[in-house]
Amino acid sequence: MKEVIQIEGGHKLSGNVRISGSKNATVALIPASILANGPVTICGVPNISDVESLAILLRELNVQVIQNSTDHLVIDTTEMRNKPLDHPAVTRLRASYYFMGALLGKYGEVKMKMPGGCYLGPRPIDLHLKGFEALGATVDYSQGYYTIKAKKLVGAKIFLDISSVGATINIMMAAVHAEGRTTIENAAKEPEIIDVATLLNKMGAQIRGAGTNVITIDGVDHLSGCFHEIIPDRIEAGTFIIMAAAAAEKMTIENIIPQHLESLLSKLSEMGVSMEVNVDRVTITGGCKLKAVDVKTLPYPGFATDLQQPLTALLTQAEGDSRIIETIYSERFKHCVELQRMGADIEVGPSNSLIHGPSKLFGERVTATDLRCGASLVIAGLLAEGITEIHEIYHIDRGYDDLDGKLNALGAKIRRVEIE
Ligand code: EPU
Repeated sequence: MKEVIQIEGGHKLSGNVRISGSKNATVALIPASILANGPVTICGVPNISDVESLAILLRELNVQVIQNSTDHLVIDTTEMRNKPLDHPAVTRLRASYYFMGALLGKYGEVKMKMPGGCYLGPRPIDLHLKGFEALGATVDYSQGYYTIKAKKLVGAKIFLDISSVGATINIMMAAVHAEGRTTIENAAKEPEIIDVATLLNKMGAQIRGAGTNVITIDGVDHLSGCFHEIIPDRIEAGTFIIMAAAAAEKMTIENIIPQHLESLLSKLSEMGVSMEVNVDRVTITGGCKLKAVDVKTLPYPGFATDLQQPLTALLTQAEGDSRIIETIYSERFKHCVELQRMGADIEVGPSNSLIHGPSKLFGERVTATDLRCGASLVIAGLLAEGITEIHEIYHIDRGYDDLDGKLNALGAKIRRVEIE
């Protein structure tokens, strides 16, 4: 038996939806918490399977994880011990690589399997490893395991060839206890990095410049427990905003930070989407005639690669040709094949796609090949005539908190079905 999502298309969405805490912040905040010598309480934790996988890894390390309400997690390291991480949960998500920086920072040693995650083309971690080496660690990879060790971590100046989110956060975590000052140049500027630096600083770390391209970390001896509330998920918010533009009469997306979504909101406005932006919410009025646009994905504050897949589904409804150029993950186009099966007219070339719109979409049996492909197919399913059946939905559950529940509350017709 396996579970699929069935969507009956054509139902208009209306009402309000509340956005959960950021997945990509959470998956870094949880490993970062182990650097504290006391309980860390994180609030706003999304109910997604990536969090379950990380909780498994924490328990492997003898860390106590208590969920004392739906979105509060208490992480207590009192009984923690360092041991090789080889549980299958390591390969279920990409973000398990944050245990490299966190364990190296805390114990000066980490041994773990290769992290997994969505296949979006090659996803090397060379910049993370070079960063650890610059701090004085040795890196060995054999028989599927990384062993990263340092007698002593010493602050260093590290220039990232690419402003990688993961490498920036991982180096920050490894450097919190290093002797002296670490400087990360060409650091990534994503809001999730600021959130992790905020948590670490509340614990007692000395990190400055997060959110700019130069971050400095002055090593400290001790970190203690604290309370932290996660920022709203800008990608979940963006996904619902695109859904609203695709299928809503009038819909309000609440608990957002609009500044985190500027590149999307300005693109949607260029497409002709009607919206009203307020301090922590945006209201979209549907039914506008949509114009084609060109999009180039870029590191923050540019257009997020994670939103190009959902946006593609909307662009199938826009008048004219839209081109998407993907500069972060060259092969992040698997959703296009699935959308084609539903009637979309899309050409895929190296690192780009060309969407000829508008096209009528029809319900089909499709596969969520990765997380944001899943979101893209849900949007297409809302627009399509008939029933869309999405397979491999564990990808969606990895990163969206109750996506179907939230959509049903807005008037969509979505259900989960067990099939042979
Ligand atoms: N890169 C390298 N070497 C490295 C690290 C990265 O060449 O050592 C390259 C990557 O291959 C990619 C680019 O640098 O071409 C940027 O990758 P980055 O390291 O910034 O990505 P990441 O940290 O692995 C995070 C999110 C992704 C999101 C990207 C880009 C998490 C857990 N993942 O990945 O989120 O697409 O940043 O913003 O935070 C998603 O949520 O669906 C997702 C894939």
